[in-house]
Amino acid sequence: MTEEKSLSERMITSLQAIRESATFMNNLIEEVLALAVADAGDIKVIRQRLNLATVARKAVDIGVVAAEKKQVGLSVDAPPVWVEGDAVKIEQVLNNLIGNAIKFSKAGDVVTVLVWEGDDGKRLSVSDQGAGISADVMANLFKPFVKGKTGTAGERSNGLGLYICSRIIEAHGGRIEVDSKNGQGATFTVVFPDSRAVERVSPE
Ligand SMILES: Nc1ncnc2c1ncn2[C@@H]1O[C@H](COP(=O)(O)OP(=O)(O)OP(=O)(O)O)[C@@H](O)[C@H]1O
Ligand SMILES: [Mg+2]
Repeated sequence: MTEEKSLSERMITSLQAIRESATFMNNLIEEVLALAVADAGDIKVIRQRLNLATVARKAVDIGVVAAEKKQVGLSVDAPPVWVEGDAVKIEQVLNNLIGNAIKFSKAGDVVTVLVWEGDDGKRLSVSDQGAGISADVMANLFKPFVKGKTGTAGERSNGLGLYICSRIIEAHGGRIEVDSKNGQGATFTVVFPDSRAVERVSPE
């Protein structure tokens, strides 16, 4: 009986490791494919009227598992804000920004996701209370294969996420702003232009 139990515990540990590897490989494959598409030319954006709050909540629901595992809080404040954009690709951006925020947070920190209507466009932001971004990483943050330290729980990095995010948001006619001081957390803000500006960037 004891042997059976300990075998089963070992199997669970092993299965967890396999699942983590599979998730990492899956992420890598998705990123390499997205990189190939991004480098092949303009990223194709399907333009549909969508509620940023819905996309933000979905991304937060996905992030909850990783956040809870690290005892990191995840809060969202997202009133309805409508944009013309590609829900799948915007969710991909948020998954990376929220994933990064959790990756570089420690137990007790809180990651905050906000959606609001700014003066110059619709905005969504992801803030964390982690170690922040060093000046050398910051200088090339949106370039492919740029990565700093591993995550606070030893999470691995490909250094592709932010490059792909920036390409996706540029394809929407928007931009990503970053505010971070080393040691004081980071805030990434995605700014979508109003729908007339999107119209000018991606005519039918
Ligand atoms: N919220 C953050 N706090 C601290 N450093 C960050 C944060 N977000 C990004 N970085 C730094 O920027 C680097 C690049 O981020 P990016 O998302 O492009 O790649 P990655 O997370 O390392 O790997 P992946 O390809 O899996 O996304 C990270 O390795 C990290 O050094
Ligand atoms: Mg990332």
